[in-house]
Amino acid sequence: MSERQPIITIDGPAGVGKSTVSRRIAAVTGFLYLDTGAMYRAVGLFLERNRIDLSDEEALPRVLAQLQLELLPPGDLVDGDVGVRLNGEDVSAALRTPEMAMVASKVSALAPVRAMLTARQRQYGQKGGIVAEGRDTGTVVFPQAEYKFFLDATAEIRAARRVEQLHRSGKQADYEEILKMTVVRDRNDRERTLAPLRPADDACCIDTGGVSLQEVVGKILTVVEGRLFRGEK
Ligand code: C5P
Repeated sequence: MSERQPIITIDGPAGVGKSTVSRRIAAVTGFLYLDTGAMYRAVGLFLERNRIDLSDEEALPRVLAQLQLELLPPGDLVDGDVGVRLNGEDVSAALRTPEMAMVASKVSALAPVRAMLTARQRQYGQKGGIVAEGRDTGTVVFPQAEYKFFLDATAEIRAARRVEQLHRSGKQADYEEILKMTVVRDRNDRERTLAPLRPADDACCIDTGGVSLQEVVGKILTVVEGRLFRGEK
């Protein structure tokens, strides 16, 4: 019998509230929070800084082998962003811009990038006890996860949330611009060949439009805690 603790996956499109919800679920369950998007952003930054030709499929694995990526716990465990150290440098602040999100979306379609990050994500989840958040954590990274959730909402609602979030952290943000980027990122993420954004067949889908994120957290905890409490997987 496996000694592994349960795995919870929370996937969905940009700006749907995954990070807030996942961090809160991790805080309540005491599980590790794995922000897979932060890893794609860090790889995007690395490839961009080194001006790597993304179409050079032979060079990419070689370049990626030089990348050292370390996830840093957020200062504020409930509402802070996960940080990343890239080859020794703390790049956390540079990752959280709409531009870096677009770069991440571009590099995330590349097979060597996905292969490397998927393997690392699985290492984090080896013993379970993890809340993994992203686009493909329930379909590709942890298809065996005990609890899978897929959050969704219209692009308009998600763009408005992102603008509010950026404003709260003291950054400038234009709604129309963010909406446009959200729609492009959705299309990239949903239509790519590798690990496209979609709910796993056994995922519980939750529409986060019109409900508070705290209510979404409540719904997820009802499912997870109910079963954990009864000792079911
Ligand atoms: O979640 P976040 O907005 O930080 O993700 C940035 C980008 O990284 C996404 O738009 C997506 O293209 C990519 N990503 C991915 N698979 C994941 C997580 C993120 O392709 N599991």
